[in-house]
Amino acid sequence: MVRKTFVDEPSIERFLALALARVTERGAVAAARLRGRGDEMAADRAAARAMRAELDRLPILASVVIGESEHGSPPSPLGLGQSVGAGKGPLLDLAVAPLEGSTLCAKDMPGAISAIAMAKAGSLLRTPEVYMDKIAIGPGYPAGLVDLDREPRENIEALAHAKNVKCGDITVCVLDRPRHTELIEKCRAAGASVRLISDGDVAGVILTAQSRQTGVDIFLGRGGAREGVLAAGALRCVGGQMQGRLAFNSSAELARVEAAGIENPYKKYDMTDLASGDVIVCATGVTEGPLLEGVGFGKAMIATETVVYHSYTGTVRRIRAEHRADRLQD
Ligand code: FBP
Repeated sequence: MVRKTFVDEPSIERFLALALARVTERGAVAAARLRGRGDEMAADRAAARAMRAELDRLPILASVVIGESEHGSPPSPLGLGQSVGAGKGPLLDLAVAPLEGSTLCAKDMPGAISAIAMAKAGSLLRTPEVYMDKIAIGPGYPAGLVDLDREPRENIEALAHAKNVKCGDITVCVLDRPRHTELIEKCRAAGASVRLISDGDVAGVILTAQSRQTGVDIFLGRGGAREGVLAAGALRCVGGQMQGRLAFNSSAELARVEAAGIENPYKKYDMTDLASGDVIVCATGVTEGPLLEGVGFGKAMIATETVVYHSYTGTVRRIRAEHRADRLQD
């Protein structure tokens, strides 16, 4: 069987999966030093700097296609379009969220993570910072079981039927936003339980991948488009299902999407449109959360928990690491 991995060399690819874990570990530790300080930007930039330093040690040539906010000041070391890596090896796409859930970190609330996705150049949807309507479920269901264009009730009933449970046993994860008032009402009217998260929908989507442990069966609602690309990469690895469609609050946002070269801004994307080919996604917990433990600072050691998703092999690895604190200075 001919391997179609993004570096055409399995041993390098495996090395990169582990090396990427180190990248998000570094990002998470840097952000966690600023947990609860009320300064989202400082924590975000610290994570981005730490990740950038680690990425630049890797034998890759990668371009940040899903990057940090274009509006930040000072500009992020992992901003859109930047080239990272030691300048050798295959050309890769990177999607980075050095601190996904920056408000959660600033308030020391559960669920902040540091995340990255890597794939062959051209594999990740290059979307600017707009919203995306999303629907996601975990693995083990027939293709097309749920659909973005169906009513919440239809999706919840289909999922309950496929899972052989009642609608009342289905839990829907939704970002807690006023724009979701109607969606939440519809989910509850269908009998489902709604788990509201205040931020962090990359993790929110990924929770569906481990519904037995997390209790979340389906993710619904509107969040960041770039977060959608990262989440799709992870969900693909486990055989889950996801659809997304870009959403615009203004004609200026639509123009930004068109300027980014997206031919049909109203397209309903499936997971492979968002993240195709061989993709590796890594996430490390910054604060404690349902997906990952947060960074633990001991006297001499720093503990991290990372999850690594690899689509080609369909492998999910959890890495609990203990780092000597004096070796992890930024
Ligand atoms: P940041 O970490 O960039 O602040 O994003 C957090 C987040 O909750 C994302 O997970 C989500 O996709 C997006 O914000 C939702 O945007 P909004 O807060 O505008 O509803």
